[in-house]
Amino acid sequence: MAHTVPDISLNDGNTIPQLGFGVYQIEPKDTAEAVRRALEIGYRHIDTAQMYGNEAEVGEAVRASGLDRGEVFVTSKLNNGFHRPEDARRAFESTLSALKMDYVDLFLIHWPLPTRYDGDFVSTWKTLEEFQRDGRARSIGVSNFQVPHLERLAAEADVVPAVNQIEVHPYLTNEQVRAYGSEHNILTEAWSPIAQGRVLDDPAIVDVAEQVGRTPAQVVLRWHVQRGDIVFPKSTTPKRIEENFRIFDFTLDDTAMERLSGLDRGESGRTGPNPDEFDYIPA
Ligand SMILES: NC(=O)c1ccc[n+]([C@@H]2O[C@H](COP(=O)([O-])OP(=O)(O)OC[C@H]3O[C@@H](n4cnc5c(N)ncnc54)[C@H](OP(=O)(O)O)[C@@H]3O)[C@@H](O)[C@H]2O)c1
Repeated sequence: MAHTVPDISLNDGNTIPQLGFGVYQIEPKDTAEAVRRALEIGYRHIDTAQMYGNEAEVGEAVRASGLDRGEVFVTSKLNNGFHRPEDARRAFESTLSALKMDYVDLFLIHWPLPTRYDGDFVSTWKTLEEFQRDGRARSIGVSNFQVPHLERLAAEADVVPAVNQIEVHPYLTNEQVRAYGSEHNILTEAWSPIAQGRVLDDPAIVDVAEQVGRTPAQVVLRWHVQRGDIVFPKSTTPKRIEENFRIFDFTLDDTAMERLSGLDRGESGRTGPNPDEFDYIPA
């Protein structure tokens, strides 16, 4: 079917729509309208975070849509100041009350913060395991975890993260972390999938877009889904919200896929911080 978004199976038996809608850097006052628009177009997966300050407006838009709660996959993430178990428990309750939901589909540790909390993200992860056991987080995962962080969870914790949400786009293909994920049944979610717009005027991407008669953003999002990753582009522009949804009625051939993958710039391609160093704790 032309615009059907595939559901992908997670390692815990749940499923996740491969395409969602991200709400990072959408002002709270604009969030409900953007999410309303996305749900109207057909998105059924919203990616928010405590750090984004717009969970309440996401919940408001989901309720206002008239869709059943079970029809929309909602992700949120633990903010960096709340890694200690007691704080994480309180913060998770505040996520549910802001969303006005009794569960989230997916809850993530937003950043590993290996230089904070004496390097202990394992007790934070074990606290997320509690949320999954009591049913208030249907699935749990991590974000911005590097391979050594994932190896440490594998050695010291019981539950394998369902996903690892990391920066991935043609300028940072992040192959090593993705490969660890695929070897250990951890799905990769690609954040900033169009590098916040920076890859869209790349000559190779523009050329492929002309060949297939699509926009550069559609080509880049299609490249992600053909690699098997989950994406949730952000936009507050109605036309782009719709454009980004129309990526399941064409394919890229191997040559086009390789051209995009060949644009990788390694570390210098990052748009965001390096997770090994990032230590920001919001005031
Ligand atoms: N876990 C993490 O640490 C982390 C970090 C960053 C992001 N994320 C998640 O990933 C989501 C997406 O990443 P992102 O918001 O950083 O960046 P992105 O989705 O790669 O890019 C968003 C930017 O591209 C523009 N844009 C969107 N669609 C476009 C199109 N079709 N043509 C041209 N420009 C377009 C948007 O502008 P307009 O809005 O003006 O249209 C916006 O400026 C976030 O919303 C968030 O959910 C997670």
